[in-house]
Amino acid sequence: CTKTYTLNSGYTIPAIGLGTFVADDGKESEVGDSVKFALQNGYRHIDAAMYYKNEEDVGRGIRESRVPREDIFVTTKNWNDERDDIEGALNASLARLGLEYLDLYLIHWPVSWKKGTEDVDETLDYITVYKKLQPLVKAGKVRSIGISNYSQPKIEKLLADPEVTIKPSVLQIEAHPLLPQPELFDYLTKENIIVESYSPLGANNAPLLRNETIIEIAEKNGVEPAMLLISWGVQRGAVVLPKSVKEARIISNLNTFTIPEDDFATLNNLANVEGVHRVVNPPWNDFVN
Ligand code: A2P
Repeated sequence: CTKTYTLNSGYTIPAIGLGTFVADDGKESEVGDSVKFALQNGYRHIDAAMYYKNEEDVGRGIRESRVPREDIFVTTKNWNDERDDIEGALNASLARLGLEYLDLYLIHWPVSWKKGTEDVDETLDYITVYKKLQPLVKAGKVRSIGISNYSQPKIEKLLADPEVTIKPSVLQIEAHPLLPQPELFDYLTKENIIVESYSPLGANNAPLLRNETIIEIAEKNGVEPAMLLISWGVQRGAVVLPKSVKEARIISNLNTFTIPEDDFATLNNLANVEGVHRVVNPPWNDFVN
């Protein structure tokens, strides 16, 4: 899949990016190898985060791939307790990644904690912290900025703020056929904000790959369930961020096909039939709405 989108910042983003959050299994160097392998096999988009505690390893993978920096779209995210000095946090992420600039920097969750704690800092609300990203664009350290896990009411308030002069380019959220969030998706499309879908397979152990309807539609079309899910996200116009540390899967997750109209409609309606299922639900999810 070589599809790309043009962000409202004018930059281009590849529709499929490699996710780098790996559940803590002690194999810390795995991600660097996955990043290197992915880049050497056609990926041009890597999605990192300070919270994943592996930016150095991601940076190593980027360097070892020998793919030119300017050909790669690199995202990282500002964690909840890095809000008192966002520029310092960005510099630290850049140093760990070994990069001069980021393609995209995101506010990871719409809640701020005092440094090193999980105590909410009310003075650093989700709009205030977003505004602190704007000077980083002007300084040339970040090409595009955006948000993650913000609800529609929060985004509406953010966009209505007169001091928000650079629109977020993306909203990164959990999105798959059991959590399609169609109203939010349509709202963002109207606002020219791209949706980035994390956990497109349902995160750890990929539970959506065992969903009977998904298996049935995949079989009918002669593809693997993972390809169906990734294709669904791309076909609706989202960025999709599948993650794998297995070489064969990294390669196959970059392949998409065109889902026939009727099957696409069935997938779009799946959560209405089977119920909505959110898989990523940390305690700080309470701050989303
Ligand atoms: P692994 O890293 O061992 O391949 P998500 O992208 O929704 O976060 O899902 C990630 C999970 O899905 C991981 O457990 C990953 O395991 C697994 N996974 C990724 N790609 C595939 C695939 N093509 N087929 C089966 N499982 C996959």
